[in-house]
Amino acid sequence: MNIKITGIVDNYSESSKFRSDWGFSTLIKTDYHNILFDAGSDPEVFEHNINLIDPDLKKIDILFISHSHKDHIGAIKYVLKNYRVGNIVIPEEQNEEIENKLREIKVRPIIINKPTSIDEGIYSTGILGEEREQSLVIPSEKGLILITGCAHSGIKNISEHVEKTFSDKIYMIIGGLHLYKKYDQVLKEDINEINKLQFKYILPSHCTGDTAKKLLKQKLNDRFMDFGAGVTINL
Ligand SMILES: [Fe+2]
Ligand SMILES: [Fe+2]
Repeated sequence: MNIKITGIVDNYSESSKFRSDWGFSTLIKTDYHNILFDAGSDPEVFEHNINLIDPDLKKIDILFISHSHKDHIGAIKYVLKNYRVGNIVIPEEQNEEIENKLREIKVRPIIINKPTSIDEGIYSTGILGEEREQSLVIPSEKGLILITGCAHSGIKNISEHVEKTFSDKIYMIIGGLHLYKKYDQVLKEDINEINKLQFKYILPSHCTGDTAKKLLKQKLNDRFMDFGAGVTINL
């Protein structure tokens, strides 16, 4: 199966052609699905970038929302208005923020609690941690592809949960690692832990933070790749 993953909204961007913004949104195209993972912060940034990346896109089969933070749900209304959206997959919320937003525009989402098969070859990790965040898992011939929004519960915990739940090795991790508030020894320890994980490639973006990205690049060498708005990965 071909899998093409492109950054739509991110703190980082491939070039100045794309607007960078604090937020995350990624388009994943497989042979069978168009999946939009999260919806960035600002509908205008989303619109600008997606029209450069995929002006002919009409249909999103799955809109997958990792968690209810504002920098991941900002363009939901824009997406529903401008694309034919099949299913919306959201984590079960305590604060019901996304549910209310969707109720307002009369959309009934698929609500995730535990690890779930969303469609053939597309899985949710189930919600993890206090931020009640889900991540996306796509098995490929090379191993599991793991996409995270902010990885609030820690990429180590998420990775271990994914390998146990899906009984396979992780090939690639893409997304926010939420290390931007960590410094010095604490950050170094986290990076050492990430280095011990068995994935083949990591593409840290969004809330990973500049210092953490730099240290990860130094430590992980060839296992590190840049990601951001306008970056496309073909698998
Ligand atoms: Fe975020
Ligand atoms: Fe977040």
